[in-house]
Amino acid sequence: MSVQLQSRRLRVGDFRKGAAPIVCLTAYTAPMARLLDPHVDMLLVGDSLGNVIYGFETTLPVTLELMIAHGAAVVRGSEHACVVVDMPFATYQESPQSAYRNAARLMAETGCAAVKLEGGVEMAETIAFLTQRGIPVCGHIGLQPQSVNATGLRAQGRGEDEAKRILADALAVEAGGAFALVVEGTLEPVARAVSEALAIPTIGIGASPACDGQVLVSDDLLGLFTEFRPRFVKRYAELAGAVSTAAAAYAADVRARRFPAMEHCFTAPSEE
Ligand code: KIV
Repeated sequence: MSVQLQSRRLRVGDFRKGAAPIVCLTAYTAPMARLLDPHVDMLLVGDSLGNVIYGFETTLPVTLELMIAHGAAVVRGSEHACVVVDMPFATYQESPQSAYRNAARLMAETGCAAVKLEGGVEMAETIAFLTQRGIPVCGHIGLQPQSVNATGLRAQGRGEDEAKRILADALAVEAGGAFALVVEGTLEPVARAVSEALAIPTIGIGASPACDGQVLVSDDLLGLFTEFRPRFVKRYAELAGAVSTAAAAYAADVRARRFPAMEHCFTAPSEE
């Protein structure tokens, strides 16, 4: 049975290896969460909101306060999907204790079901610290956007050493107690090997059809960006063109005094 068919809100325990593919999309706002919620199993409040919503070049400037505000909005806007919120850069790398304090704020102030954090072997102790204290964690390995200054944004898993490192990262995240693992920007055979090696479900983006689920940034899938079209994105709509056409039509109407018409005006005190 698809995890999507359940009537209550999905929890991390509902995601199991070998079940129906996990459908995940990013959401950052309540109205978008409302639109996506009936169709997905998981809504990820990704720190990609730094790029998508705030126009930052990287995800590094994203703060805990931003993630709390957007995470809470997505929880309010959804009733079915399991909501997972990203821990932003520098809120979990320093120590397991500071990671716990920040993850606890994310959970308590948003009502989300779990947090996601980037990193492999080096984060395993922190993942264990959180999961043993009641905070479900989704791991994130392969391309890690928060490490852009160290590794760049190229696909990972080239060569035997990188492939071995990624597999070791995946196993360490699983051993730490993560309930699922995002595998991003990783050569297909390596992502496939990771998926085959793990007992927890993998969620791919730019990874492999062998992953147990898939995630995309919603704005990519909707075609809201014209300047950026990565290979791993399949566009299901071209909304950038529709937005531009609507704005141009509105501008033309206002300039020609066609909008507002009388039907858009309050002509009597009783009208709303
Ligand atoms: O921040 C994000 O949106 C993510 C996904 C791309 C997996 O981490």
